[in-house]
Amino acid sequence: MSRVIYNTATTLNGFLADDENSLSWLFVVPGAEQAESDFSGFLAGMGALVMGSTTYDWIVQHEDLLGHPEKWFYRDLVSFVLSSRILPEVPGADIRFRKGEVDAIWDELSDAAGGRDIWLVGGGDLVGQFADAGHLDEIRVSIAPVTLGSGKPLLPRRLESDRLTLETVRQTGQFAELVYSVRSSG
Ligand SMILES: NC(=O)c1ccc[n+]([C@@H]2O[C@H](COP(=O)([O-])OP(=O)(O)OC[C@H]3O[C@@H](n4cnc5c(N)ncnc54)[C@H](OP(=O)(O)O)[C@@H]3O)[C@@H](O)[C@H]2O)c1
Repeated sequence: MSRVIYNTATTLNGFLADDENSLSWLFVVPGAEQAESDFSGFLAGMGALVMGSTTYDWIVQHEDLLGHPEKWFYRDLVSFVLSSRILPEVPGADIRFRKGEVDAIWDELSDAAGGRDIWLVGGGDLVGQFADAGHLDEIRVSIAPVTLGSGKPLLPRRLESDRLTLETVRQTGQFAELVYSVRSSG
């Protein structure tokens, strides 16, 4: 059975990106390279990933993936992008564009993961939709020493301590990685 894991970097005050979707604050944090290499170990356990369209658009533009499709990082994973719109496709990548309720894509997503875990890339509301549907098992946040006045929220849902258990705490450079297991409601 696949586990569903939200793994992301965040600011100390709970933002994934600033209001313009910029991650410039993230890339300059000391230890970012070490955190990135640890991330390859995490990716090795994943069979599929899910992201929202803002995140996908940002990656496509930032990496110029339409001109350089070989730079799509996640070739070994089946990638699901949730959107109500028609989005540009990265040539040669196994990217499935879907829309609607989590329950409507769940069987296809879990089949695609092939028994390995599922990585929720973000954004926060997308992860909230998985939490609402009872398909969120773990939250791994790497907290950067940064605060932003506003931006895109980490997880705009109310999950209290009866549902979140702190499992591990680890320092990588200037990041604090916290891993929480998530208990379904009800
Ligand atoms: N710090 C990090 O490590 C990190 C990690 C992840 C993301 N990010 C950044 O954080 C920001 C997140 O942006 P965001 O909060 O706007 O979230 P997002 O999840 O990337 O995109 C949200 C959009 O996805 C589509 N969508 C979501 N759920 C859907 C569903 N069930 N069915 C159909 N469409 C659905 C909707 O747009 P449409 O229907 O209009 O397409 C929605 O407006 C991005 O800038 C991203 O680059 C940072």
